[in-house]
Amino acid sequence: MHCNTCLAYQREFSPQRAAGLRRRYRESGAQQTTRILAQALGRGGVQGLTLLDIGGGIGALQHALLEAGAERATSVDASRAFIELAEEEARERGLAARIEFRFGDFVALAGELPDADIVTLDRVICCYHDMPGLVGLSAARATRYYGAVYPRDKWWVRLWNWAENCVHLVQRSGFRSYIYTPRDIDACLRESGLRECFRDQTLAWHVVVYERKP
Ligand SMILES: C[S@@+](CC[C@H](N)C(=O)[O-])C[C@H]1O[C@@H](n2cnc3c(N)ncnc32)[C@H](O)[C@@H]1O
Repeated sequence: MHCNTCLAYQREFSPQRAAGLRRRYRESGAQQTTRILAQALGRGGVQGLTLLDIGGGIGALQHALLEAGAERATSVDASRAFIELAEEEARERGLAARIEFRFGDFVALAGELPDADIVTLDRVICCYHDMPGLVGLSAARATRYYGAVYPRDKWWVRLWNWAENCVHLVQRSGFRSYIYTPRDIDACLRESGLRECFRDQTLAWHVVVYERKP
Protein backbone atom coordinates (compact mmCIF):
# COMPACT_ATOMS: atom_id res chain seq x y z
CA MET A 1 0.00 0.00 0.00
CA HIS A 2 1.44 3.42 -0.91
CA CYS A 3 1.75 5.89 1.95
CA ASN A 4 -1.05 8.02 0.47
CA THR A 5 -3.37 5.02 0.49
CA CYS A 6 -2.28 4.18 4.02
CA LEU A 7 -3.22 7.69 5.20
CA ALA A 8 -6.51 7.51 3.33
CA TYR A 9 -7.33 4.25 5.17
CA GLN A 10 -6.70 5.86 8.58
CA ARG A 11 -9.13 8.65 7.61
CA GLU A 12 -11.76 6.36 6.10
CA PHE A 13 -11.61 3.79 8.91
CA SER A 14 -11.21 6.40 11.63
CA PRO A 15 -11.56 6.06 15.43
CA GLN A 16 -15.02 7.69 15.19
CA ARG A 17 -16.20 5.20 12.57
CA ALA A 18 -14.74 2.26 14.51
CA ALA A 19 -16.48 3.44 17.71
CA GLY A 20 -19.81 3.82 15.86
CA LEU A 21 -19.59 0.34 14.35
CA ARG A 22 -18.65 -1.14 17.72
CA ARG A 23 -21.65 0.53 19.36
CA ARG A 24 -23.96 -0.88 16.66
CA TYR A 25 -22.34 -4.32 16.98
CA ARG A 26 -22.93 -4.32 20.74
CA GLU A 27 -26.52 -3.20 20.34
CA SER A 28 -27.63 -5.32 17.36
CA GLY A 29 -24.93 -7.95 16.79
CA ALA A 30 -23.01 -8.68 13.59
CA GLN A 31 -24.13 -7.47 10.14
CA GLN A 32 -26.49 -9.76 8.22
CA THR A 33 -23.80 -10.76 5.67
CA THR A 34 -21.29 -11.52 8.45
CA ARG A 35 -23.86 -13.79 10.10
CA ILE A 36 -24.53 -15.58 6.77
CA LEU A 37 -20.79 -16.09 6.22
CA ALA A 38 -20.19 -17.33 9.78
CA GLN A 39 -23.10 -19.79 9.48
CA ALA A 40 -21.92 -21.06 6.08
CA LEU A 41 -18.37 -21.62 7.39
CA GLY A 42 -19.76 -23.24 10.54
CA ARG A 43 -21.85 -25.78 8.61
CA GLY A 44 -18.99 -28.27 8.29
CA GLY A 45 -17.78 -27.56 11.84
CA VAL A 46 -14.92 -25.23 12.71
CA GLN A 47 -13.81 -27.07 15.85
CA GLY A 48 -10.05 -26.71 16.28
CA LEU A 49 -9.53 -24.82 13.02
CA THR A 50 -7.34 -21.73 12.59
CA LEU A 51 -8.56 -18.48 11.05
CA LEU A 52 -6.87 -15.67 9.15
CA ASP A 53 -9.32 -12.77 9.07
CA ILE A 54 -8.16 -10.03 6.69
CA GLY A 55 -9.70 -6.59 7.23
CA GLY A 56 -11.50 -7.94 10.27
CA GLY A 57 -12.69 -4.50 11.42
CA ILE A 58 -13.87 -4.70 15.00
CA GLY A 59 -13.80 -8.50 14.86
CA ALA A 60 -17.42 -9.69 14.56
CA LEU A 61 -16.56 -12.64 12.29
CA GLN A 62 -13.60 -13.70 14.45
CA HIS A 63 -15.80 -13.70 17.55
CA ALA A 64 -18.49 -15.79 15.83
CA LEU A 65 -16.00 -18.43 14.60
CA LEU A 66 -13.97 -18.58 17.84
CA GLU A 67 -17.19 -18.92 19.82
CA ALA A 68 -18.23 -21.72 17.42
CA GLY A 69 -15.05 -23.64 18.29
CA ALA A 70 -12.25 -22.34 16.05
CA GLU A 71 -8.98 -22.62 17.95
CA ARG A 72 -7.27 -19.29 17.23
CA ALA A 73 -7.26 -16.39 14.81
CA THR A 74 -4.88 -13.95 13.19
CA SER A 75 -6.53 -10.61 12.52
CA VAL A 76 -4.90 -8.26 10.01
CA ASP A 77 -6.22 -4.77 9.45
CA ALA A 78 -4.87 -1.68 7.71
CA SER A 79 -6.67 0.66 10.12
CA ARG A 80 -5.03 1.34 13.49
CA ALA A 81 -8.33 2.47 14.99
CA PHE A 82 -10.09 -0.78 14.05
CA ILE A 83 -7.24 -2.94 15.32
CA GLU A 84 -7.18 -1.09 18.65
CA LEU A 85 -10.92 -1.39 19.21
CA ALA A 86 -10.90 -5.02 18.04
CA GLU A 87 -8.26 -5.82 20.67
CA GLU A 88 -10.32 -4.10 23.36
CA GLU A 89 -13.50 -5.89 22.27
CA ALA A 90 -11.70 -9.27 22.23
CA ARG A 91 -10.36 -8.66 25.76
CA GLU A 92 -13.86 -7.91 27.02
CA ARG A 93 -15.19 -11.09 25.41
CA GLY A 94 -12.38 -13.20 26.90
CA LEU A 95 -11.06 -14.04 23.42
CA ALA A 96 -7.89 -11.91 23.31
CA ALA A 97 -5.53 -14.79 24.15
CA ARG A 98 -6.73 -16.64 21.02
CA ILE A 99 -6.30 -13.75 18.56
CA GLU A 100 -3.05 -12.32 17.20
CA PHE A 101 -3.56 -8.77 15.91
CA ARG A 102 -1.43 -7.39 13.08
CA PHE A 103 -1.62 -3.85 11.76
CA GLY A 104 -0.90 -3.30 8.06
CA ASP A 105 -1.77 -4.01 4.46
CA PHE A 106 -2.23 -7.75 4.09
CA VAL A 107 -0.63 -7.69 0.62
CA ALA A 108 2.57 -6.27 2.12
CA LEU A 109 2.48 -8.60 5.15
CA ALA A 110 1.41 -11.80 3.35
CA GLY A 111 4.90 -13.34 3.33
CA GLU A 112 5.15 -13.07 7.14
CA LEU A 113 1.75 -14.57 7.93
CA PRO A 114 1.01 -18.25 8.58
CA ASP A 115 -1.37 -20.38 6.51
CA ALA A 116 -4.78 -20.90 8.10
CA ASP A 117 -7.55 -23.48 7.73
CA ILE A 118 -9.99 -20.63 7.04
CA VAL A 119 -9.20 -17.31 5.38
CA THR A 120 -11.87 -14.60 5.35
CA LEU A 121 -12.34 -11.20 3.71
CA ASP A 122 -15.65 -9.77 4.88
CA ARG A 123 -16.39 -6.58 2.85
CA VAL A 124 -12.68 -6.01 2.20
CA ILE A 125 -12.06 -6.82 -1.48
CA CYS A 126 -14.08 -3.71 -2.44
CA CYS A 127 -11.68 -1.47 -0.48
CA TYR A 128 -8.60 -2.53 -2.40
CA HIS A 129 -7.22 -1.26 -5.71
CA ASP A 130 -5.51 -4.56 -6.66
CA MET A 131 -8.10 -7.36 -6.49
CA PRO A 132 -5.89 -10.09 -8.09
CA GLY A 133 -3.06 -9.26 -5.67
CA LEU A 134 -5.29 -9.31 -2.58
CA VAL A 135 -7.39 -12.33 -3.58
CA GLY A 136 -4.47 -14.33 -5.03
CA LEU A 137 -2.20 -13.88 -1.97
CA SER A 138 -5.01 -14.48 0.52
CA ALA A 139 -6.29 -17.58 -1.31
CA ALA A 140 -2.78 -19.03 -1.23
CA ARG A 141 -2.93 -18.87 2.61
CA ALA A 142 -6.19 -20.90 2.86
CA THR A 143 -5.63 -24.60 3.44
CA ARG A 144 -9.35 -25.54 3.69
CA TYR A 145 -11.90 -22.75 3.32
CA TYR A 146 -12.01 -19.24 1.90
CA GLY A 147 -14.93 -16.99 2.78
CA ALA A 148 -15.69 -13.58 1.31
CA VAL A 149 -18.36 -10.91 1.20
CA TYR A 150 -18.10 -8.55 -1.76
CA PRO A 151 -20.47 -6.18 -3.61
CA ARG A 152 -22.80 -7.40 -6.36
CA ASP A 153 -22.09 -6.03 -9.82
CA LYS A 154 -25.55 -4.42 -10.25
CA TRP A 155 -26.48 -0.94 -11.44
CA TRP A 156 -27.84 0.14 -8.06
CA VAL A 157 -24.67 -0.99 -6.31
CA ARG A 158 -22.54 0.77 -8.95
CA LEU A 159 -24.61 3.94 -8.50
CA TRP A 160 -24.10 3.86 -4.73
CA ASN A 161 -20.39 3.15 -5.19
CA TRP A 162 -20.06 6.05 -7.66
CA ALA A 163 -21.83 8.41 -5.21
CA GLU A 164 -19.54 7.31 -2.36
CA ASN A 165 -16.46 7.85 -4.51
CA CYS A 166 -17.73 11.34 -5.46
CA VAL A 167 -17.91 12.15 -1.75
CA HIS A 168 -14.33 10.88 -1.29
CA LEU A 169 -13.23 13.06 -4.21
CA VAL A 170 -14.93 16.17 -2.83
CA GLN A 171 -13.43 15.48 0.60
CA ARG A 172 -10.02 15.09 -1.10
CA SER A 173 -9.71 11.62 0.36
CA GLY A 174 -7.47 9.19 -1.53
CA PHE A 175 -9.76 6.32 -0.50
CA ARG A 176 -11.84 4.67 -3.24
CA SER A 177 -14.12 1.64 -3.25
CA TYR A 178 -14.25 -0.82 -6.13
CA ILE A 179 -16.69 -3.30 -7.66
CA TYR A 180 -15.09 -6.37 -9.20
CA THR A 181 -17.09 -8.91 -11.19
CA PRO A 182 -17.88 -12.29 -9.58
CA ARG A 183 -16.36 -13.88 -12.70
CA ASP A 184 -12.97 -12.21 -12.15
CA ILE A 185 -12.93 -13.02 -8.43
CA ASP A 186 -13.97 -16.61 -9.15
CA ALA A 187 -11.18 -16.93 -11.75
CA CYS A 188 -8.56 -15.81 -9.18
CA LEU A 189 -9.84 -18.26 -6.59
CA ARG A 190 -9.98 -21.14 -9.06
CA GLU A 191 -6.45 -20.37 -10.19
CA SER A 192 -5.41 -20.80 -6.55
CA GLY A 193 -6.98 -24.27 -6.45
CA LEU A 194 -10.21 -23.35 -4.64
CA ARG A 195 -13.74 -24.38 -5.65
CA GLU A 196 -17.02 -22.70 -4.74
CA CYS A 197 -19.14 -24.62 -2.20
CA PHE A 198 -21.57 -21.95 -1.00
CA ARG A 199 -23.11 -18.78 -2.45
CA ASP A 200 -25.80 -16.47 -1.16
CA GLN A 201 -26.66 -12.86 -1.82
CA THR A 202 -28.46 -9.87 -0.34
CA LEU A 203 -29.59 -6.78 -2.22
CA ALA A 204 -26.03 -5.45 -2.35
CA TRP A 205 -23.64 -8.26 -1.41
CA HIS A 206 -22.42 -11.70 -2.46
CA VAL A 207 -21.49 -14.10 0.32
CA VAL A 208 -19.28 -16.96 -0.87
CA VAL A 209 -17.34 -19.87 0.55
CA TYR A 210 -14.73 -21.77 -1.43
CA GLU A 211 -12.97 -24.96 -0.38
CA ARG A 212 -9.68 -26.61 -1.22
CA LYS A 213 -10.20 -30.20 -2.26
CA PRO A 214 -7.35 -32.51 -1.35
C1 LIG B 1 -15.62 -2.15 5.27
S1 LIG B 1 -14.53 -2.61 6.54
C2 LIG B 1 -15.12 -4.23 6.94
C3 LIG B 1 -14.76 -4.64 8.33
C4 LIG B 1 -15.33 -6.00 8.77
N1 LIG B 1 -14.77 -7.07 7.99
C5 LIG B 1 -16.84 -6.00 8.69
O1 LIG B 1 -17.37 -6.61 7.75
O2 LIG B 1 -17.46 -5.37 9.54
C6 LIG B 1 -13.03 -2.99 5.64
C7 LIG B 1 -11.84 -3.25 6.56
O3 LIG B 1 -10.82 -3.86 5.77
C8 LIG B 1 -9.58 -3.27 6.08
N2 LIG B 1 -8.72 -3.48 4.89
C9 LIG B 1 -9.00 -3.15 3.62
N3 LIG B 1 -8.01 -3.51 2.78
C10 LIG B 1 -7.07 -4.12 3.57
C11 LIG B 1 -5.81 -4.71 3.32
N4 LIG B 1 -5.29 -4.75 2.09
N5 LIG B 1 -5.12 -5.24 4.35
C12 LIG B 1 -5.63 -5.20 5.61
N6 LIG B 1 -6.83 -4.64 5.92
C13 LIG B 1 -7.54 -4.10 4.91
C14 LIG B 1 -9.92 -1.82 6.41
O4 LIG B 1 -8.92 -1.21 7.20
C15 LIG B 1 -11.24 -1.98 7.16
O5 LIG B 1 -11.06 -2.17 8.54
